[in-house]
Amino acid sequence: MSLLLGVNIDHVATLRQARYALLPGSPNAEPSPLEAAHDAILGGADSITIHVRGDRRHMQDADAREIRREIQVPLNFEMGITEEMIGFALGLRPEFACLVPETREEVTTEGGLDVIGKRRETGDCIRQLQAAGIKVSLFIDPEVDQVLMAAELGAEMIELHTGCFANAEGESVESEIQRLVAASKAGHAAGLQINAGHGINYGNLFHLFAVPHLTELNIGHSIVSRAMKVGLTESVRQMKQLMATYPAGPCD
Ligand code: PXP
Repeated sequence: MSLLLGVNIDHVATLRQARYALLPGSPNAEPSPLEAAHDAILGGADSITIHVRGDRRHMQDADAREIRREIQVPLNFEMGITEEMIGFALGLRPEFACLVPETREEVTTEGGLDVIGKRRETGDCIRQLQAAGIKVSLFIDPEVDQVLMAAELGAEMIELHTGCFANAEGESVESEIQRLVAASKAGHAAGLQINAGHGINYGNLFHLFAVPHLTELNIGHSIVSRAMKVGLTESVRQMKQLMATYPAGPCD
């Protein structure tokens, strides 16, 4: 099976909020996250990813509900581990929930969830979501002990945080890739589905082809940025085209 693409459309809501945060429901509010989801799907998105943050800085509750109702591909709901978000996710019932760390100061998610340090609350959250039929992914740094804890806690998937890889330069690129390779192999051996995301773009994508067992990449910023030049359907299509050369099949 070819590498799947989850398109994160949070930045479409970021742009709308830049002008309309204080005018919710305005008939002039644009751009529309729902239209973006439809455009991304037309370009070949295999799933749509949204993150409703505690501070509601981009996606709003109404966006999530509307997208959930209207799209036909799986919805991947990124969420912090809070009672409020667990309640919201249980009402929304996305196909997937990806648990991420969330702090108010960060511009975007800046590191993986520490599932070892937070194993009790992570495990409780996983159980509640799974009981509602939601598959759970844990967004973690590419560290084997975190990966093994994710498996022990019963998550179906992990999303390996590729932010350090994306920010690496020179020789560190290869060492970051090797961390991802080791984490991916450990996760695969433990029975986890392996996804990856954060900071992936049209230029650095090919380095990730050295990482085995990848099922899905979650990509937002680079695709939405390219959409300003070519439109979202085309920017998604171009990313899918590049991803199609990922070596298929198991490799160890
Ligand atoms: N995966 C997770 C868990 C994220 O928090 C983000 C950023 O919202 C992404 C993937 C996508 O990252 P980027 O926007 O850098 O492609």
